[in-house]
Amino acid sequence: MLKYYSFTLFFFLIFIEPVASTSFAEANALLKWKASFINHNSSILKSWNLDTKNSANLSNRPKSSSNPCNWFRISCIDESVNRLNLTNASIQAFFYEFPFSSFPNLAYIDLSLNRLFGIIRPQIGQIPDSLSGLTSLRTLYLYNNQLSGPILHELGKLTSLQDLELDMNHLTGQNPVLLSGLTSLRTLYLHTNQLFGPIPPELGKLTLLLDIALSTNHLMGQISTSLSRLASLRTLFLYTNQLSSPIPLELGKLTSLQDLELDTNNLTGQIPVSLGGLTILRTLYLYNDQLFGPILHELGKLTSFQDLELSTNHLTGQIPISLSGLTSLRTLYLYTNQLSGPIPPELGKLTSLQDLE
Ligand SMILES: *[C@@H]1O[C@H](CO)[C@@H](O)[C@H](O)[C@H]1NC(C)=O
Ligand SMILES: *[C@@H]1O[C@H](CO)[C@@H](O)[C@H](O)[C@H]1NC(C)=O
Ligand SMILES: *[C@@H]1O[C@H](CO)[C@@H](O)[C@H](O)[C@H]1NC(C)=O
Ligand SMILES: *[C@@H]1O[C@H](CO)[C@@H](O)[C@H](O)[C@H]1NC(C)=O
Ligand SMILES: *[C@@H]1O[C@H](CO)[C@@H](O)[C@H](O)[C@H]1NC(C)=O
Repeated sequence: MLKYYSFTLFFFLIFIEPVASTSFAEANALLKWKASFINHNSSILKSWNLDTKNSANLSNRPKSSSNPCNWFRISCIDESVNRLNLTNASIQAFFYEFPFSSFPNLAYIDLSLNRLFGIIRPQIGQIPDSLSGLTSLRTLYLYNNQLSGPILHELGKLTSLQDLELDMNHLTGQNPVLLSGLTSLRTLYLHTNQLFGPIPPELGKLTLLLDIALSTNHLMGQISTSLSRLASLRTLFLYTNQLSSPIPLELGKLTSLQDLELDTNNLTGQIPVSLGGLTILRTLYLYNDQLFGPILHELGKLTSFQDLELSTNHLTGQIPISLSGLTSLRTLYLYTNQLSGPIPPELGKLTSLQDLE
């Protein structure tokens, strides 16, 4: 026991050092931001202060507690703030108060699940171009806040950004063509906002994308065929919008897709035969659209299918016997269509099937 304490003390002595000037500037920027909160009772930020007398706790903080690198939910690289994770921290604040330009090495920002208000873009003249200084930023989570207005132009300059999650806010405006500069992007979540207009064809340039969720907005028009260039795409969620074109044949090129959800739109035309090439697809939701024509027997080739929902369309013809090859299928919804003929007895082979309607 004694040995353990002298060991800790040894490390404390080795690592004690004056607060570097970068982190001092960053500490001040964080405190200024904290002072701008509408509520001052976010209890998790108690460690954020420059008072060394009361808050130094030698047992778990070898460095000075006025160094922001030791503050709760902050981590540093080379004595400069690299990660800020204040998810679900009861923060109420205007988003534009956040001092982006003060953190040149910030790579991960998680301010999700708070009550951040206001538009992402500051009023003209307030803090011009503040976000675009964050050239190291890789992750920006602002989901589940109260943000409104259009998506900031400056976001398009964050060329290192890999993960952008702005879902569950009140963002409006035309869908962000300006994000087309985000060539490192893997994840784009903009769902559950009030975005409108077409899906920008420029999204097809972000060829590293793995996951796109634009669902539950007011998007209109066609599903851009340029999306077929996203060869790595695993999930594409466009459900609950007002999209009204046929499903592009080109989506059949997205052979990495595992989950395709286009339901609750006004999509017309037939289910394209090319979807039969999406061999690792597990979930296909095309329900609540205006699709017509037959259920393709090619869908029976997609043996990874777990969940196939084609209900509430104008599909005609018979249920293809080939569906009996979908041995992993758990849910098959075909109700509210104009299908004819008997339910093929071969579907009895689908031993994983739990729900057939
Ligand atoms: C902070 O105060 C507000 C009212 O001003 C209250 O709604 C909220 O629940 C409080 N949060 C915490 C973490 O105490
Ligand atoms: C210091 O930190 C330890 C471990 O987290 C805790 O048990 C202790 O109560 C703290 N002491 C003070 C004075 O805050
Ligand atoms: C957020 O914090 C509250 C209270 O601290 C907790 O009850 C809730 O489960 C948390 N939510 C998430 C999504 O972590
Ligand atoms: C922030 O912390 C939460 C909870 O510990 C974690 O789930 C989340 O992934 C973290 N965010 C980032 C960007 O690291
Ligand atoms: C589909 O189009 C019809 C007729 O134009 C319209 O009334 C309906 O609201 C649309 N539904 C969706 C989900 O966009």
